[in-house]
Amino acid sequence: MPCTPLFSRTPFKNEQTFFNVFENGKMHFETKKNFRRIVFVLATLTLVSWYIYLTSHELSEFVLKNEVPARSPELLLVPTDNEPTTRPERVPSAFENSLKEGIKGCFVYFVNDANWVNARRAIREIEDRFNNRHYYPWVILSSVELMPEFEEYVGAMTTADITFAQIPHTAWLFPQGINLTRAYAPDSFTFRGGDLANVELSSRFLARYLSGPVFDHPILAPYSYAWLVSSTSSYPCDITLDPFLYMHRHNMSYSFVIPFRERLGEEEPTHPSLWDTSLQFIDTHPQYRIPQNQSLVNFITQGSKHGGWNLCHFLPGAIEVLDLRFYKSPAYQEFFIAIDEAGGFFYAGWGPEHVRSIGSTLLLPRSAVKWWYEIGVREAGLAYCPSDLETGKARADCICRLEENFERSSKSCLAEFFDL
Ligand SMILES: *[C@@H]1O[C@H](CO)[C@@H](O)[C@H](O)[C@H]1NC(C)=O
Ligand SMILES: *[C@@H]1O[C@H](CO)[C@@H](O)[C@H](O)[C@H]1NC(C)=O
Ligand SMILES: *[C@@H]1O[C@H](CO)[C@@H](O)[C@H](O)[C@H]1NC(C)=O
Repeated sequence: MPCTPLFSRTPFKNEQTFFNVFENGKMHFETKKNFRRIVFVLATLTLVSWYIYLTSHELSEFVLKNEVPARSPELLLVPTDNEPTTRPERVPSAFENSLKEGIKGCFVYFVNDANWVNARRAIREIEDRFNNRHYYPWVILSSVELMPEFEEYVGAMTTADITFAQIPHTAWLFPQGINLTRAYAPDSFTFRGGDLANVELSSRFLARYLSGPVFDHPILAPYSYAWLVSSTSSYPCDITLDPFLYMHRHNMSYSFVIPFRERLGEEEPTHPSLWDTSLQFIDTHPQYRIPQNQSLVNFITQGSKHGGWNLCHFLPGAIEVLDLRFYKSPAYQEFFIAIDEAGGFFYAGWGPEHVRSIGSTLLLPRSAVKWWYEIGVREAGLAYCPSDLETGKARADCICRLEENFERSSKSCLAEFFDL
């Protein structure tokens, strides 16, 4: 018999296959040698896979039996015996839960200059840290007319619903009773320590609009909760709880992250009229007064030199979630009208953050105001970096250092909030 190598190009004579090599009752020497090679390779493969199976099995036992350290997620990738290989059941998102509970929450982003880079960043940050798991809708309010291209570029940042609306033209009209001479030549000091005469009139109209009338904009009518988003904020940590759901379940009306004391003017009280007007409102509207033992008033009065406002307020846009029903309620809207009639938006540069902070503090009970200790934020040169509640150390999902916390700065009003 001629030497025919196994698997050679030349076929076995008479259409011999690998199996009928044995037909004559004996195997050719070369064929035997190749056969042994195959058996050797197969045996080695079997041993190796058996070893892999055994070791991975041990590893999964280890994973099952031992606490997996939180910082080695790669261990969790090893499949365990009772781990399904198919995708897990879809957990209903918080938004689906909230729909069941009848919560209508939305993000409100105010656009003043059609700067689409800022708008895209503001939306994307929230989407990446929170909303890509929740799909709460976006409401974009603008003081300027927006191009369709702007809406397209900005809308591309979210898969949630997004609607655009302009603020009404009435926002640019002087309210009744404003002394135009004073409005055009305002008092020469402002809350922010600059000269109000240099602040454009349009920004004073906006401050007024965002302090009260905004809550009555028809585009907000379907919603109960609004999360005010600022284009200058960033979020160093994942936002793992759902603020809308939390506020609804705990019957809360206002929430914030950074309470701070701005050096509003040269001397305190630079401009006592906002505080005086607010107190006057409470005096003349006893039905809205909060009982002393449930009141937050110490937050804005504690430690003040003249027994007035201590200048503490909530940093605007640094995660403010509010219950629109309170801000549309007679209590807050009547408060706004009283403030508005005093003319301070035009004469003294009162800002929406000041009016909202004082109004919320005077008109809400302590139990309706929430400080988010678990939400990190950076805004206006201040930062809040949450720590792990159990260990007190920095959280692994955060891009911030605990040393950055505003709590350590003299500007912090957290102690005043907790009435310490
Ligand atoms: C308006 O303000 C100016 C400047 O403060 C003042 O002189 C004038 O009397 C005011 N007018 C009225 C009607 O109050
Ligand atoms: C919810 O809060 C509001 C105002 O803060 C209060 O009037 C109302 O009684 C509260 N409702 C419940 C169920 O606690
Ligand atoms: C506040 O005081 C009133 C009586 O003045 C009392 O009935 C009520 O339970 C107190 N509330 C709290 C939260 O301490």
